[in-house]
Parts: sequence; C-alpha cells; structure tokens
Amino acid sequence: MKATANAGSNIAFVKYWGVRRGERRGLVPLNPSVSMTLEKARTTTTVEFLPGLKQDVCKINNRPAPPDAVARVHRVMSRVRRLARLKAFARIESVNHFPTSAGIASSASGFAALALAAARAAGLTEDPKHLVPLTILGSGSACRSLYGGYVLWSPPGKGRAPSRVRQLAPEGHWPLVDLVAILSREQKRVPSEQGHLLARTSPLLEGRLQSLGKIVSKIRKAIRERDLSALGEWIEADALCMHAVMMTSRPSLLYWKPATLAVIEAVRDLRDRKGIPCYFTIDAGPNVHVITLPDQAAAVTRVLKRVEGVEEVLHCPTGRGPSIDEEPLF
Ligand code: DP6
Repeated sequence: MKATANAGSNIAFVKYWGVRRGERRGLVPLNPSVSMTLEKARTTTTVEFLPGLKQDVCKINNRPAPPDAVARVHRVMSRVRRLARLKAFARIESVNHFPTSAGIASSASGFAALALAAARAAGLTEDPKHLVPLTILGSGSACRSLYGGYVLWSPPGKGRAPSRVRQLAPEGHWPLVDLVAILSREQKRVPSEQGHLLARTSPLLEGRLQSLGKIVSKIRKAIRERDLSALGEWIEADALCMHAVMMTSRPSLLYWKPATLAVIEAVRDLRDRKGIPCYFTIDAGPNVHVITLPDQAAAVTRVLKRVEGVEEVLHCPTGRGPSIDEEPLF
C-alpha cells in the first residue's frame, strides 16, 4: 500500500488554454495541445495508504502543502479510492528536483508522479491511458507528462470517451533543449485554473480555435521531420496567440514583465544577426522558454544571462516519461 514514482514537467508547443464549462466528464480542454516532456525538472512522490488517518496528509518539499494544492490532491485521491474500493486516507510526500526553488510549473510533474504512485499503491492499472483522468483532476497539463518525448493531448470527441493523450515521438527521436529564462519566482496572481475559465470572454478565442488545426499539423510535421525552424515559427505564433487571448479576456490577464519582451528581442536578435536557431514560448507567467539545439545551448544561455531582469537560466533537455522508484521518500 506504499509506492513512489517520479515524472518530468513539460513545455507546451501548442498551448492548452480554456476549458469547456459544465461538463459532467470533468475537465475538458477547448483545444488540442502538444508538448515536450522535460528531463531534470522532475518530481518524486511517495503515497502510502494508512488506515489510521482521518484525511489525506500532504507535504511538498518537506512543508505542509498549501490549501489549493491539498484540494487538488484530494480530488485525485478520492477518485483513486473510488476506483480501488479503498476507504483509507493516505500520507503523500512530494519533492521537486528543480534546479531552483520555483519559476517553472511543478504541477505537471507533481500530478503525473502522484497519479502513478497512487495507482501503484492502490493496486490499480498503471497504463498511462487510465492515468489520464486521474492527472487532469489535479492539473490539465499533467496528463502530457505521462509520456516522455513529444506528446499530443486531444479533447474528447462526442459521446462518453475521455480525453486522449498519446506520444508522438520518444525523447530519443529529437533531443532539444528548453532554456528557461527565470524572471520571477513569484506565484502567478491569477492561477491557470481561473484563467482557463476566462478564455471565453476574449473576442480572439474563436480565431485561435479556428487556426489551431493547421498549427497542430505544422508542429507535428516539424517534430516528425526534426525541422527546428518550422517548429520555432509555429510555437512562437501560438504562444503569442494564446497571450493575445489572455490579454483581451475580461478581466485582462497580462502575465508579461518588461524583461519578457527583452528576452523575446534577444532571441530574435540571436537568430537574425548570429544565425543561431532558437525560438521562444511563454506559459501563464513572465518566464520565457527558449527552445534550441543541444550544441547551441551554451551560446544561447550566455546571451540570455546578460538580459536585464533575467535571474537564472535553467537547462532542461527533452525528457523521459514517469517511472516507479524503489527508494521511498519516507
Ligand atoms: C499556459 O491548468 O495545466 O501552461 O495546473 O496551474 O500548472 P497548472 O496549469 P494548467 O494550464 C497550463 C496552461 C499553460 C499552457 C499549457 O501548458 O498547455
């Protein structure tokens, strides 16, 4: 009744932004998304079901988890108990092996590791297909961390089918690097969970949804053919489009800081003046992810570190999927 698992975070190449309302099947994304799983940015989680507990007890990085994280963990654990016909609550401990205290999302790696550890501890199937509904109870983007390499998350079609997640290519197919320019370690003011509900208030949402079919197929082709300039062109276009939706929703969400623009400028400059292939993408925060080839990473990092407002640059290569650990955290 005790198990430990680890999983990597992921960076979206096509962003998931917006959820359908009032779905009885739980969280349903408005659009398909594509991501790359990250090595290094990993979380390890141990789950133990203990008959004496009166509720799930959860620690993250050796501290009691904040209330919003506890609520999400509880949603996942309640579903696990129902599926496994268990009554016992669980002790859950999670440690983020990120090279920094914060700055990149830990919820994707955290909930992918939690789903796998909880499934193993409860004796449920560990097939990633069956873990998808569990992870998205905690964090939507976490379902993409159930696979390594390049991953597609498609919204469910009509009928009762759940969301579908599948690996487009394994990590060895095309090793890339995500250099994360950390501009701020502050918690975002509007959590993604609330942001997803605002997407529909933007007059630009329909335009984005209509153009996504083309962008997803361009990005899939670029991954298949290992074509970084095509991949880069489309990931930048989609990141800007998602932020346009965020900025024009009501209330408006503006996650950028002045240094976000400065990093975008530096990336374009590296490309145009030095011919270095590197491309930016930005999640729901000010930090900029710069995608490049492993042998260009050192040169790009040197330039990013000189941009005013950049505190640190994390080096995250394409990563593998989750796995079970023999060493428990407690
Ligand atoms: C902008 O609801 O998965 O990163 O659970 O808060 O980490 P958290 O976020 P989630 O939304 C992620 C939104 C995004 C785009 C993406 O990763 O696809």
